[in-house]
Amino acid sequence: MNASDARKRDLAALLHPMTNLALHEERGPLMIERGKGIYVYDIEGKEYIEGLAGLWCTALGYGVEELAETAAEQMRKLSFGHLFGSKTHEPAIALAERLKQMVPIDNGRVFFGNSGSEANDSQVKFVWYYNNAIGRPEKKKIISRRRAYHGVTVASASLTGLPANQRDFDLPIANFLFTDCPHHYRDAEPGESEEEFASRLAANLEKLIVDEGPDTVAAFIAEPVMGAGGVIVPPRGYFEKIQAVLDKHDILFIDDEVICGFGRTGNAFGAQTFGLRPDTMSLAKALSSAYLPISAVVIPEFMYQPMVESSRKIGIFGHGFTYSGHPVSAAVAVRTLELYEERQIFAHAAKVAEHFQARLAALSDHALVGEARGVGLIGGCEMVADPSTGRAFAVPGKVGAYCMGRCQEHGLVVRNIGDTIALCPPLVITESEIGELFDRLERALDDTLAWVERESLRG
Ligand SMILES: Cc1ncc(COP(=O)(O)O)c(C=O)c1O
Repeated sequence: MNASDARKRDLAALLHPMTNLALHEERGPLMIERGKGIYVYDIEGKEYIEGLAGLWCTALGYGVEELAETAAEQMRKLSFGHLFGSKTHEPAIALAERLKQMVPIDNGRVFFGNSGSEANDSQVKFVWYYNNAIGRPEKKKIISRRRAYHGVTVASASLTGLPANQRDFDLPIANFLFTDCPHHYRDAEPGESEEEFASRLAANLEKLIVDEGPDTVAAFIAEPVMGAGGVIVPPRGYFEKIQAVLDKHDILFIDDEVICGFGRTGNAFGAQTFGLRPDTMSLAKALSSAYLPISAVVIPEFMYQPMVESSRKIGIFGHGFTYSGHPVSAAVAVRTLELYEERQIFAHAAKVAEHFQARLAALSDHALVGEARGVGLIGGCEMVADPSTGRAFAVPGKVGAYCMGRCQEHGLVVRNIGDTIALCPPLVITESEIGELFDRLERALDDTLAWVERESLRG
């Protein structure tokens, strides 16, 4: 098959997720055919660095034989097994045991889903179920943050603070509230320090809780670093101040580690990098290095016990998916976690992150870049009309989309989030590959700058 056949077949058959469908009909798809390490290759054989690890997920890179073998072996042995009605199997138990050991939650209980959205949807339901179980039926509202991304199912999209994921879908549903996005560069007052900004945001959160009535607010959800909202690293002291407000009003902290989990921010979890104390956690993506779909929710014992009592009363704990803890996905996830350990991937990522962050920071000198921000092996490069004031472009996303196209031309797959180029390469990336990634990005930025000047887009 060639690119033009692929385009015809794609356009005739697919409804693309998270795509501008109108633009797609004009431009057609980029068809990726194979991958190896941090590289993917399109149908014409052109090589690209996967600068976003697929969708922030292929931590071990492509073509890991051990994972393919594990999947094949498990398929031969037990291709399907479920956990409904007290059934169990070895891969699910082994994975739950490993996760229990890894996460910063004492004596956690692990529930499996297939995606980050399902994990966060389950989180909402667990919080509601738990509060009913302990006799707090009024304590149900969930607070998220503007620009957060927590998924697209009805409840998880109600947590997602991005207009495009809610508009015309009749979302959010009732009882979902939003507080500030912690983006110092965009939202701080002139002269406000990171600490002061964080204090103001914590005060705003407290005001929201008090105005709503603390007895009606059940949980707060946050990604340690916001990913799909534009790679937003919280200001200094932010989570400490937020956590104090949550503790004061007895509000659970749901830690969405779907992107940050498993070595992305320099530690096993973002919770450790930012010193936060989660009550519950959502895990997905790098849990299996994206070799198969799987996600997990970890809840503490104090939530689990009342749920046991409710299920006794109701007759069943009525939540779960056919593929909760699918044995092939679970076996691949166990092997993934083993490989992280055997190959010391988190330590490797933390080490090469120094070079990554240095190259990222250097982008702030580029004439198009307002802020280059990141932590560990995640970064965002925000292009603006005027870097001296941070003034954004008149039409958000146009320059970002152009730059993403130029990156593709130069052999780098990235994603633009508005005018921010998001970077999140596989954790196995080496220093020299990081160099190559940034060389390609800089070429794209130079092309974009020339185009911005030609089109007089600075306004
Ligand atoms: C932080 C976060 N939570 C949840 C999700 C949703 O995960 P999924 O796309 O697997 O449903 C994502 C996806 O990018 C995410 O980044």
